[in-house]
Amino acid sequence: MASELAKSSVSEDAVGRGDLSNLLEVRLISIRYAARDTHLFELAPLAGGEMPPADPGAHVDLHLPNGMMRQYSLTTPDRAPKSYILGIKRDANSRGGSKYIFDTLKVGHTLRISSPRNNFALVENADHVVLIAGGIGITPIWAMTQRLTELGRPFELHYASRSRADMIFLDKLKDMGSARPHFDDESADKFLDIKPLVASAAKGAHFYCCGPIPMLNAFEEATANLPAEQVHVEYFTPKEEKSTAGGFIVQLARSNKEFVIPPGKGILEVLRDAGLDVPYSCEQGICGACETAVVSGIPDHRDSVLTEKECAANKTMMICCSGSKGDKLVLDL
Ligand code: FES
Repeated sequence: MASELAKSSVSEDAVGRGDLSNLLEVRLISIRYAARDTHLFELAPLAGGEMPPADPGAHVDLHLPNGMMRQYSLTTPDRAPKSYILGIKRDANSRGGSKYIFDTLKVGHTLRISSPRNNFALVENADHVVLIAGGIGITPIWAMTQRLTELGRPFELHYASRSRADMIFLDKLKDMGSARPHFDDESADKFLDIKPLVASAAKGAHFYCCGPIPMLNAFEEATANLPAEQVHVEYFTPKEEKSTAGGFIVQLARSNKEFVIPPGKGILEVLRDAGLDVPYSCEQGICGACETAVVSGIPDHRDSVLTEKECAANKTMMICCSGSKGDKLVLDL
């Protein structure tokens, strides 16, 4: 999740408090300028040693001392990392997350983070990979470029930003033969045109996209006719409204307890109000922390994590944002 568009990662509105067990104590060991309003924050384990392994596309929850929590993608994949590096953009409309990070956090501060979570996994043996990033959405994509380079796998990177001054890793792109930077302010059409990139790619290529909502919408439109397993997208902000229609019952299969979900409330909210300890993080359907197995019933999926196929299977659901299409849902809780 990245970054602060959203998953990278990734949202200014995420203030979840769930999943507090197993947090890692880390120290902020460096802050480096990366581009306009964007810094790289490096975190190392307080106790020394290594961080948990993190595959490309992974993000962590960053628990801030002011009580807020944000999700950010890791920029560097590593199987035995000494540190994690997060790329964070200062959001002009920040209501506390990136503003606090930029104004208050200093090298030497200690923080708590979750273990890495990955809803944007890289298929490492694909014949060809097309990576598309917009703005701070580069953070999980950058980790993918590092892994693919390490493996010697073919890929192309299409990376758009408003201008050169806003592009992080710009100095490294010249060494990456397959990188195609796009600067909105230098292009006649302004925004990166995704359709031709998809149309001209080799058959069987896998496509990955992380960036602002208009870019993700264009990406989903351009890849609509491709097999779903070849299309990978990471949302930083929810693509749908939460379900708050209520009017159904949730039964917990392990205890047989039943809860009425009234109009105006969601499943997670009701379970939490009842004192149940259920994992959650972003509360916006973008991080995957609250994914819960469905025993019976048809969820009204509103998350940005599950694929169309996964939604149709109705085997799991995100209880922070999704509702029910019927009178009752039985959950494996
Ligand atoms: S808490 Fe993040 S998807 Fe539900």
